[in-house]
Amino acid sequence: MDYKGKVAFITGGANGAGFGQAQVFGRLGCRIFIIDIRADALNEAVSRLRQEGIEARGAQLDIMDRAAFARVADEVERVYGEPPQLLFNTAGVAAFGPAEASTYDDFDWVFGVNLGGVVNGMVTFVPRMIKAGNGGHVVSTSSLGGFQGLEFSLQYCAAKAAVISLMEGYRPALQKYGIGVSVLCPANIKSNMALAADTRPAHLRKTGYLVNEDTKKSLQSIFNSGMDPVVLAQHVKAAIDANALYVIPYPETKAGLEQHFAEIAGSIPTLESDPEGVKQRLTALQEWAQSAGSRDMFTKKGPDALV
Ligand code: NAI
Repeated sequence: MDYKGKVAFITGGANGAGFGQAQVFGRLGCRIFIIDIRADALNEAVSRLRQEGIEARGAQLDIMDRAAFARVADEVERVYGEPPQLLFNTAGVAAFGPAEASTYDDFDWVFGVNLGGVVNGMVTFVPRMIKAGNGGHVVSTSSLGGFQGLEFSLQYCAAKAAVISLMEGYRPALQKYGIGVSVLCPANIKSNMALAADTRPAHLRKTGYLVNEDTKKSLQSIFNSGMDPVVLAQHVKAAIDANALYVIPYPETKAGLEQHFAEIAGSIPTLESDPEGVKQRLTALQEWAQSAGSRDMFTKKGPDALV
């Protein structure tokens, strides 16, 4: 892909992985638009990018706020003359604590940002990108935790699993519009993730977990040893260039993932255990898939009508 002049929209662009993406794609000549819930960090990030000679703008936005998302999308088109060709759904938050202590607010906040934010990014921008007809690429950030539930980050892993699933579904759907789709699944990033609780909205503050300076410090010690965001963003660029679906640039995770998927596959009975049932189900599925319009029957109106 020739990145020069392309509009790149990055959620969570004020820090960590999102800021790394802004630096790497800005240096390649993209026109950057970052959004973040933290105004101070956002302003600082925009000025750091500009100091490097990168064309950068930003807006404060809570990605859970759909109306504000639409307003910012309008602003991007107004200032840059077109919707983004590169969409990075990167912003995310984590909460850590015992599964059984989880509150509704813990679920609503973590699902709202990590899953809802990606949904809002897709529903806001995908029809605009299709209508512009310039193709492009979407990269949503999930996590290695999206492949396996963990008791101390229950909602986080569940939301990230949903992000992987969404990108797997969007990828074939957007292929015909020339829009690639990737899902980034980091293991550990050098970032401010340990401070995520500071951005928790007042109406979703009731938590069952202990959040204090000690717990933040303890978490920060893990994130301090994570991958540099610029290096991670370079892996993202390589994945876009290769149009790869999964971006998991952490070799140390391979054996664990292999074991996890082997366990899942190993729990399934063999074909020989139910030959007749298997045949019946597969034949019915194939017939349905081949029937005229099995996909188009679900389309009421073209994507243009959605914008
Ligand atoms: P970070 O905290 O440094 O960056 C996330 C940015 O998102 C922050 O600037 C924050 O202000 C912003 N943000 C948070 N809530 C927001 C909201 N409601 N609306 C708009 N912006 C919001 O953390 P990091 O690590 O760079 O996170 C980036 C992505 O990477 C997230 O999706 C995270 O879940 C994911 N990730 C991080 C890992 C890590 O080890 N740090 C591991 C795996 C995935």
